[in-house]
Amino acid sequence: MNTKVVMVEENNLDKNTIEEAGKVIREGGLVAFPTETVYGLGANALDEEAVKKIFIAKGRPQDNPLIVHVADFNIEFLVKEIPEIAQKLMKKFWPGPLTLLIEKSGVVPETTTAGLSTVGIRMPSNVIAKELIASAGVPIAAPSANVSGRPSPTEASRCVEDLSGRVDFILGGGVCEVGLESTIVDCTSTPPCVLRPGGITLDMLREIDSSIYIDPAVMKKIEGDFKPKAPGMKYRHYAPKAPMKIVRGELQKTIEKISEIVQNSIDEKKKVGILATEETKNKYLHGMIISIGSRADISSVGKNLFEALRKFDDAGVDLILAEAFEESGLGTAVMNRLKKSAGYDIIDI
Ligand code: TXA
Ligand code: MG
Repeated sequence: MNTKVVMVEENNLDKNTIEEAGKVIREGGLVAFPTETVYGLGANALDEEAVKKIFIAKGRPQDNPLIVHVADFNIEFLVKEIPEIAQKLMKKFWPGPLTLLIEKSGVVPETTTAGLSTVGIRMPSNVIAKELIASAGVPIAAPSANVSGRPSPTEASRCVEDLSGRVDFILGGGVCEVGLESTIVDCTSTPPCVLRPGGITLDMLREIDSSIYIDPAVMKKIEGDFKPKAPGMKYRHYAPKAPMKIVRGELQKTIEKISEIVQNSIDEKKKVGILATEETKNKYLHGMIISIGSRADISSVGKNLFEALRKFDDAGVDLILAEAFEESGLGTAVMNRLKKSAGYDIIDI
């Protein structure tokens, strides 16, 4: 398949390009596009045949439902009824990095929701995404625009890398602001429950409803036959090619432990990547060191995490060592992605 790649600027949007990409969606094709979280791979959410193409292009397991992206608040036709909590959360956090799970209507095909009775809906704030959805005139089902299992793309070039030849159109924009996928809240349970932490933190959600909690299964390794509520949680996700270990403990000790492992690995002729921070990057003597941001500004860490993992892949490292972060605020989402990337391989010191 020939993939058309066009770069657009958020501040100077080329309407013709948006129209062209919108038409591809309307006609049942696939378009990769930027959102404020990560790049998405979109198709008409109401067209079963179009949605099937997403699963094929990504190599995505059939039992993993897709998030439906909308450009306005008129979502009544997609759902049975909008629970009160969903209405409050929409009002407060849309457009933005928050997906709400609601009982679906008959309009949404089973393929989109992987046979589940609920549908995940979100309204992105990224201007390119919003204009694309509006131009398509239909809601857009979009998982992250990576080949299944790889780190989510936060830059256009990574979409091209993963999806060139597999999709009709890649709408390239800038670097994604948040860099981590949206927070998912199940609005069908009482109390409402977070199934994936993201840019909208638990503290922010609790300002609307103090009973909201994070599903304890979210931060743990899923073992045996356990079926998580968000099917995607059971797959090894965001995974760099090299094995990864997280070192968790007091920061100075973390640096010492990582340095020790790096030294041992170098003795074994292994190339090691270190996921460091502005505060620690100069403390390491060996290895490929990438600072993903400042500990004083955890949002910078979220923004750069996936791209750093891809850089380690490019460099062909044999092992990645990551410093841990505190599991509070946005740190919860960062640690959730790190743990999944590392397959829950954590060294506590
Ligand atoms: O920020 C985001 O949400 C990005 C951008 C493109 O919008 N999209 C994204 O999609 O991360 P994806 O497919 O990579 O992750 C969607 C997650 C999966 O874990 C899936 O299982 C879960 O959401 N999910 C979607 N619909 C669901 C539903 N009805 N019930 C339970 N989990 C659902
Ligand atoms: Mg994904």
